[in-house]
Amino acid sequence: MSQIALITGAGRTTGLGLEVCHQLAAKGFSVIVTARNGDDAQRNTDLLLQKHPESTLYPLKLDVTEANDIDQAASWVKERLGRLDVLVNNAAVFGTSTEEVASADLAQSQQILEVNFYGAWRMCQAFLPLLRQSPSGRIVNVTSGSGSFGDMKYGLNSGVRINTSYSISKTALNALTVRLAKEERRRGFGVLINAVCPGWVATRPGDAERGARPVEEGAAGIVWAATLPKDGPTGQLFRDGNPLPW
Ligand SMILES: NC(=O)c1ccc[n+]([C@@H]2O[C@H](COP(=O)([O-])OP(=O)(O)OC[C@H]3O[C@@H](n4cnc5c(N)ncnc54)[C@H](OP(=O)(O)O)[C@@H]3O)[C@@H](O)[C@H]2O)c1
Repeated sequence: MSQIALITGAGRTTGLGLEVCHQLAAKGFSVIVTARNGDDAQRNTDLLLQKHPESTLYPLKLDVTEANDIDQAASWVKERLGRLDVLVNNAAVFGTSTEEVASADLAQSQQILEVNFYGAWRMCQAFLPLLRQSPSGRIVNVTSGSGSFGDMKYGLNSGVRINTSYSISKTALNALTVRLAKEERRRGFGVLINAVCPGWVATRPGDAERGARPVEEGAAGIVWAATLPKDGPTGQLFRDGNPLPW
């Protein structure tokens, strides 16, 4: 049976999620294509099938803020497939670029953390039992250098002003990555859990013209972490397969 990957937030046609699905399908993975809107999941699965007619693909409606969706998805994977090999926590919302700590609308900020941080946390909790059934369980938390203290290009100390709550949600996601990786190691499980920043990627109109990189390049670093060998790293932050400081 081929390896099985689940990607959250794969509902946009120009997003990283769909491209990660493409690249994993090209490597022979069966892919569970999830989106908060079931029609988007189905449309992107149809697009993937055109490119990879030999692949096994499963569209699934999954809103990472909906505990019911996550529970149903985990039950479905358990009953139908018995295990999961790769979980990519890709879903995110960005908020507004003008948001400042001193005046931020905290209700909006909480919604951002609900998706970007608690959404990924919920997914990890629900799917860890299935990932532990795999001989090569991997979690990739798609993060951003904007949540890093040490990334001097986009990070908290870089002087570049990237959306406040979004950046803080990614700092929290990075912390979760370290804690969970250490927990899994301590308990003797082989699941490798890393955070990956894809760099600035052209997933929106006009991004490429302003200097963002092609989506294929950003996705490749995520796929790299999703397909690490058994003795690969865990509890680290990467961009393009290279370590980034937290
Ligand atoms: N693009 C960049 O330059 C860049 C840089 C650094 C990090 N990243 C990270 O890369 C990942 C993908 O970014 P992207 O640029 O591809 O963004 P994107 O195209 O907006 O994709 C994000 C996806 O998340 C989905 N989503 C939002 N809320 C959700 C929820 N509650 N449940 C499930 N899915 C939900 C969105 O769904 P809808 O389609 O329904 O809105 C969207 O499809 C994100 O984690 C982002 O933080 C991106």
